[in-house]
Amino acid sequence: MSSDLTEKTITEAVQRTFDTSTDPRFRQVFVSLVQHLHDFARDVRLTGDEWFTAMDFIERLGKISSPTRQEVVLASDLLGLSMLLDTMNESPGGSATASALLGPFYVEGRPTAVNGDDISNGVAGTPMFVSGRVVDEQGQPIAGAHVDTWHSDGAGFYDVQQAEKLHNEFAMRALLTTGDDGRFWYRSISPRYYPVPTDGPCGEIMRAAKRSVMRPQHVHFWFHADGYHSLITQLFLKDDPYIGRDAVFADLTSLQADFVRHEPGVAPDGTQVDEPFVTLDWTFTLAANTIGAKP
Ligand code: BEZ
Ligand code: FE
Repeated sequence: MSSDLTEKTITEAVQRTFDTSTDPRFRQVFVSLVQHLHDFARDVRLTGDEWFTAMDFIERLGKISSPTRQEVVLASDLLGLSMLLDTMNESPGGSATASALLGPFYVEGRPTAVNGDDISNGVAGTPMFVSGRVVDEQGQPIAGAHVDTWHSDGAGFYDVQQAEKLHNEFAMRALLTTGDDGRFWYRSISPRYYPVPTDGPCGEIMRAAKRSVMRPQHVHFWFHADGYHSLITQLFLKDDPYIGRDAVFADLTSLQADFVRHEPGVAPDGTQVDEPFVTLDWTFTLAANTIGAKP
């Protein structure tokens, strides 16, 4: 083959090696990847030392990763690629609620709760009463929808980050089901903003860029209902100090909510609460699965 490759012709030469693939999508992705990688190297005049540093970085992303430490996913989140893909692939448009990252703190095996339960499992904090309505794009209630929810405590830590303190018990997470009116509701404690992990390779980028590492206060939701696209999303505290500069770009305006503060008194579930509490109420709209569409 060619010994006279130049800075320009090498790109096409590499791309041609994918011509033998019988998988058109594989070929499309790799031909484009080679194009963009080469253009990137030419654009920034990438040096050998810089690429060596980058390869070492990628290797360290992999080495620190484990089932409970998703550094590769975090890199994708921090570079905005995860939200770009969410926007491209997971937001059906129309009036459906926007999708936002799953994040690393969803766990299998979470407890099941019934509407009205306190899902804090005894963790101390400002009481929070969450209520939601799950509807279709015509505003009709979706009964029997499964609603996974999870969030941090008032110091910004999830249960799985303090397993020892919580004796490996789940807290501040549950799977609920909507009633005939499409409603679900639960009691918990108010979460707080928190930083993404910065003690790994991703932290080096954040420090070098002098970027904010914080995620504004949020509650996670994952909806499943027969006949509808499943929806993974988050609701953010509208007046959080970090709103508008979420480290992972998920705090879309359409997902910013009022976490309404109340003085001691009667809570939405009719109980007397002797301390200030917070309420969060939202309508979530699911897009119907149309024939031939991705479930
Ligand atoms: C979270 O939402 O919990 C999260 C998402 C991305 C990176 C870190 C945390
Ligand atoms: Fe989170």
